[in-house]
Amino acid sequence: MSDRYGEHRHGGVSSPNTVMEEPALLEELGPAEGLDVLDLGCGDADLGRILLEAGCRSYLGVDGSAAMVERARSRLRDTGGRVERADMEEFTAPPGGFDLVVSRMALHYVDDVAPVLASARRWLRPGGRVVFTVPHPVLTCNDTSEGTGGPRREWVVDGYFDTGPRRRVWMGEPVTWYHRTVEDHVRALHGAGFALTALRECAPARELFGAKEQEYARRRRVPLFLLIAGA
Ligand SMILES: C[S@@+](CC[C@H](N)C(=O)[O-])C[C@H]1O[C@@H](n2cnc3c(N)ncnc32)[C@H](O)[C@@H]1O
Repeated sequence: MSDRYGEHRHGGVSSPNTVMEEPALLEELGPAEGLDVLDLGCGDADLGRILLEAGCRSYLGVDGSAAMVERARSRLRDTGGRVERADMEEFTAPPGGFDLVVSRMALHYVDDVAPVLASARRWLRPGGRVVFTVPHPVLTCNDTSEGTGGPRREWVVDGYFDTGPRRRVWMGEPVTWYHRTVEDHVRALHGAGFALTALRECAPARELFGAKEQEYARRRRVPLFLLIAGA
C-alpha cells in the first residue's frame, strides 16, 4: 500500500471505503467480542485495530508486502494483535483455529481464489464465517487504467464475462487485478463448502456525508464494492 493509497483509504468522507465499504463490512461482521480473527491481505491492519478495540479475542493479519507488515505491526504495537508476512496462497495454519476469516479489498490480487477459500474453510471452527470485500465487478471488468485524477463523470462496463487479469495503474503504481463476475464469487464460495449468508453492494451510508449532498449523490451512481459472506 503506497502512501497515496493510505491517504485515499483513510481520507474521511472523500474515501469511498469509509462511506461505502466499511459501514457495510462492520455491520456484516457484527459483534467482535470473543472472536479469533484471521485477516488475509491485512494491509496496515486498520481493521485489526477496530476489531481488537471491539473486543475480539485474537487478531492475526497476513500480508504479502514487507512494507505493509511493518506498518501493520506498528499500528498494532500496543495491542495483542499479530501480523505475519506471507502470500495468502502460501499461508498455513492449523485447522479450526478461527471464528472469522476476513479479507478486505485483497482477493482481487489473487488469480485463483478457490484454494484460498478452501483453506479458509479448514481454518474455521464449526459455525465460523468468511467475509470478504472486493472492488465491484462492474469496476474491474473494463480494461482501462487510472482516470484523469478528477472525480469520474462516467463509467464503462465492458468485457464483463471475460474474466481474468487486468493490468492497470492504480494509485500511481502498476498492479494486476483479477476480474471475476458476481457469479464467479458465489460459485467459488460454494465450491469451498460455504453457504452464502450475505451479498452486499455497499451503498453509501447517508449519515456519514453530513451536508455533502453532491458527494452523496455521486456515490449513489455506481457500485464500487462487493461484499460476500459465507458460513
Ligand atoms: C488494497 S490493499 C487492502 C489492505 C487492507 N485489507 C485494507 O482494507 O486496508 C491490498 C492488500 O493486499 C495485500 N496483498 C495482495 N496480494 C496478496 C497476497 N497474494 N497475499 C497476501 N497479501 C496480499 C497487499 O500487500 C495489500 O496490503
